[in-house]
Amino acid sequence: MTGQATLASRLIGAVALVAMAGAAQADGDAARGEKKYEECVSCHATERGVHGVGPSLYGVLDRKAGDLADFRYSPALKRSGITWSEQSLDTFIADPQKMVPANRMPYAGMPDAGDRADLIAYLRNAFR
Ligand code: HEC
Repeated sequence: MTGQATLASRLIGAVALVAMAGAAQADGDAARGEKKYEECVSCHATERGVHGVGPSLYGVLDRKAGDLADFRYSPALKRSGITWSEQSLDTFIADPQKMVPANRMPYAGMPDAGDRADLIAYLRNAFR
């Protein structure tokens, strides 16, 4: 009886550990993400309505791609039909030209999935 209880609690402990590890990876590290945003900040302001070479990224999560009325987007991005979620942002930042061919964002991509998770954690905290 005692033996069974110990086994059960060990199993629960193992499952909880695996779940925590998964969550940590998916969530990313917002503080590290702020450093990663330095690759974007020369073109993207974080304030609402402030556009540079690229559109403001204020509130970008849940926004439709190419949706800001006062920024001139490429036809490719406007037509893309994307809604920016953590998943679609991840795919876009990894390789913008692959996801949206002929878009006008002059950025080669961020190949490291961990870097992208951190960056997206930063965006989620900063603009929502
Ligand atoms: C050299 C300038 C430049 C850099 C660097 C850059 N971008 Fe962009 N970005 C743009 C431009 C220009 C567009 C508009 C593209 C279009 O209309 O096809 C854009 C569009 C976007 C969009 C779509 C916005 C919307 O309203 O639909 C997102 C999201 C985005 N960029 C994220 C990022 C992130 C994250 C980084 C950093 C990893 C980054 N960009 C780096 C210039 C840049």
